[in-house]
Amino acid sequence: MAGPLPARASSSPGAIPFGAAIQSDFFDADPDYRALFTRECDLVLPMNELKFALLRPTRETFAFEAADRMVDFARANGQASRGHTFVWWSTNPDWLEAIEDEGQAERVLVEHIERVADRYRGRLSSWDVVNEVIAHDPDEDGGPLRDTFWLRRLGPRHIPLAFRTAARIDPAARLVLNDYDLEFRGPRFDTRRAIALGIVRQLQDAGIRIDAVGIQGHLYAHQEIDVEALARFGRDLKALGVGLLASELDVIDFQVPGDAEAIDAAAGKVVSDFLDGLIGGQRPEAVVTWGLTDRYSWVGDAMPRADGRPCRPLPFDAELRPKPWYGELRRRLARG
Ligand code: G3I
Repeated sequence: MAGPLPARASSSPGAIPFGAAIQSDFFDADPDYRALFTRECDLVLPMNELKFALLRPTRETFAFEAADRMVDFARANGQASRGHTFVWWSTNPDWLEAIEDEGQAERVLVEHIERVADRYRGRLSSWDVVNEVIAHDPDEDGGPLRDTFWLRRLGPRHIPLAFRTAARIDPAARLVLNDYDLEFRGPRFDTRRAIALGIVRQLQDAGIRIDAVGIQGHLYAHQEIDVEALARFGRDLKALGVGLLASELDVIDFQVPGDAEAIDAAAGKVVSDFLDGLIGGQRPEAVVTWGLTDRYSWVGDAMPRADGRPCRPLPFDAELRPKPWYGELRRRLARG
């Protein structure tokens, strides 16, 4: 069985590894951005470059260069890296979504994982094998799984197929089910946690390896974390021999009134509650943020603030100054 993610040599011994996703768009253009990842992270991963559409513009063409550069950058700095992602509903190329035949879709999925997992074997310590396969609102959406290209073509069996293929090609990588909305209080979130556990059990019952669940951690600063339910989720996974990590942590503040200080205080509270639940259940394999600085983030594009203030989702502000909550997060991780 694959071991946990390695911590960077410069981290304090026993610390929970800290990582962040990097955007290749700014990798060359912004040396200060690049330096921040070099200095702060035990783990660096490509935010977008391993997604299907970017990796595979045509069925015959694999475009590995951008992802390679990020992965090589991590290795050169002695940092771990992880893969995001084989199976997703978004960022698929048109040629893929145009496939109607079940057998064709299966062949493409298997060949994709074979080719990509093989290329990065030994270089990526974990893979988000499937990303966001749980229905957004399972009661409203009429089933536990999200309606995606892969579900329509292959049915629920695409999940074990993806895990089985990834396990066959890269026996050492941690194989992860990655999803969002697994930490808040309320029935929809209880249901989503239960579905995640159900998928884990089904894989295990079928003798298929799953090593961890990635809790994305796109935290809404106005929404309450269910600390106890999150800790219970971690304990339930642990009882099944399955790890967990925070895989895409950031804070969505569009419903928090006030200035930068008020926003950061609200972010600090929600991150602290999240860590209470996360670490309360079992020791996470890593805590990974979705970017590192407010200079670049999807949050402002997707959920801008009505007051026109810039969003403040990440550990460093747009001038690359650390927020108080980042210091607290690192002290928490250092305790292990
Ligand atoms: O690279 C092009 C650039 O050349 C062009 O000028 C620009 C114009 O819009 O687009 C750039 O590509 C964008 C890319 O991000 C790089 O910034 C794409 O349009 C945009 O769709 C893409 O969005 C990404 C999104 O996933 C879709 O793949 C976000 O960066 C990324 O943060 C987001 O990440 C997801 C996780 O994978 C899964 N969980 C949720 C998370 C947030 O939505």
